[in-house]
Amino acid sequence: MEATIVQEKVKHYPVLLKEIISIITPQYGGTFIDCTFGQGGYTQEILKNRNNKVIGLDRDEDSSIIAQKFEKKFPNRFIFKNLNFSKLNNLELRDENIRGIIFDLGYSLNQIKDLKKGLSFNSNGDLDMRMGLNKFSANDVINKLGGKELEKIFKFFGEEKDSKLIVKNILKERLIRKIDTPHLVKIIENSKRKRNFKSHSATKVFQALRIFVNKEITELIYGMINAVKVLKKDGVLVIVTFHSLEDKIVKYFFRNLSEHKSISRYHPKKNQDEIKFKMIKKKPITPSINELNENYQSRSAKLRYITKKENFYKINTDIFDKFRHLIEIENFGEHL
Ligand SMILES: C[S@@+](CC[C@H](N)C(=O)[O-])C[C@H]1O[C@@H](n2cnc3c(N)ncnc32)[C@H](O)[C@@H]1O
Repeated sequence: MEATIVQEKVKHYPVLLKEIISIITPQYGGTFIDCTFGQGGYTQEILKNRNNKVIGLDRDEDSSIIAQKFEKKFPNRFIFKNLNFSKLNNLELRDENIRGIIFDLGYSLNQIKDLKKGLSFNSNGDLDMRMGLNKFSANDVINKLGGKELEKIFKFFGEEKDSKLIVKNILKERLIRKIDTPHLVKIIENSKRKRNFKSHSATKVFQALRIFVNKEITELIYGMINAVKVLKKDGVLVIVTFHSLEDKIVKYFFRNLSEHKSISRYHPKKNQDEIKFKMIKKKPITPSINELNENYQSRSAKLRYITKKENFYKINTDIFDKFRHLIEIENFGEHL
């Protein structure tokens, strides 16, 4: 049996692995981009075919430790770049037959269990939440950013109903001392008007902060645009999302490129020639009962994919207009 490279501190289950493999069909050979390499769960499966190459990207430098083992085991067939996937057009890909690009968004269980990264509300000490290649941390956001900005972050990225009260208490508290992770959790718990017994009180604010610190909306939008450009004819773009905001953005972008609808009120409907992508399944694919039994963490995963019908580089999309308000919120971080 072939030895596996994916070694984990925590058992690792690549989400929707079987489904992804059946969509990208690596058995037919080609080059694939694993935009969120992580521990290499998808890459390992793709490289089983000796005719395949994989380019792995990850913003977290910790991924390069596993990536080095892949580079040794698969010389000339695997390369890794510690790069944000929004910059995927900076790679020299002109001569590559890119047959599939995968995004498995968010963070891994290993990252959340690494308390130094401060992604979990169980972390002790300073707030952080940087996945890698960031300009600022959650510590800067909570201790320096203005109240209006914080409120928008919690409301739009976390759908937190008590944003106003939480921010009021953050502003009060930070006049006295620097707010760290346990302290922020306390402030949120004390500010919530209703207790939610299904999830931790701090879940929404922590999600919002993680999105903001890692500019996840901007990353996703630029990542998708650059991915559809570099794909070759018949290539597939596959995206796995984990929360409704990400899924809404992916769904909008995919529909926009693959349907007859007008891209905005000011643009006429597209004609058949302008539709350069196929979306075979309108509904997202979700984990099977078996997968949920093995890996409950996958419960919110949604997979969508589109196929490129012909080679071209320029695309016509109004995604920036549609989600401008979210990109503008992420730009609040430029002043930190
Ligand atoms: C859910 S994990 C991927 C797990 C992977 N599919 C596997 O099987 O090991 C998501 C990974 O994407 C990385 N990531 C998140 N946003 C990124 C971005 N904008 N650019 C590059 N990597 C990113 C994270 O650091 C994390 O390692």
